[in-house]
Amino acid sequence: MKKIRVLFVCLGNICRSPMGEFIFKDMVKRCGYENLFEIASAGTSSEEAGNPVYPPARAELAKHGISCLGKYAVKYLPTDYNKYDYILAMEERHVRSVCRISPDTEKKVFRLRDFCKQPSDIADPWYTGDFKTAYAEIEEGCSDFLRWLKMKGVIE
Ligand code: 4NP
Repeated sequence: MKKIRVLFVCLGNICRSPMGEFIFKDMVKRCGYENLFEIASAGTSSEEAGNPVYPPARAELAKHGISCLGKYAVKYLPTDYNKYDYILAMEERHVRSVCRISPDTEKKVFRLRDFCKQPSDIADPWYTGDFKTAYAEIEEGCSDFLRWLKMKGVIE
């Protein structure tokens, strides 16, 4: 069966989008859906490309028993658009950047928290220093996205 391909996107790919990638990987694994998905993350900027996940983000994931070992930042490329079914950005400005790099002709670019009751951006913990809140907001976004996929009949 064809996998559901999900790409999380933020600015640097060292904080929020890797958190999304590894939280969602952990979530689908716990639900027994891991074979249904292909999950990755990228940044709209190349500034941090090649760097590992920012230590406070890594520490927040570790608090929840989630490892992100082996993840290094990559830049979002125009060719990524066709590689994924859902491109989930952390902020509206990342949606705009993604759409500048690759026009959203198939309407597959969303904000992660567009699936939540109260859609919102995810505040940048690089500036707020609040990785606990970022984790909670990303976790809720992932959970509501998974619920939406079920509601849409994309997964049973
Ligand atoms: P991220 O966080 O987009 O969640 O990975 C940031 C990482 C780096 C910078 C900003 C945000 N920066 O300005 O270098």
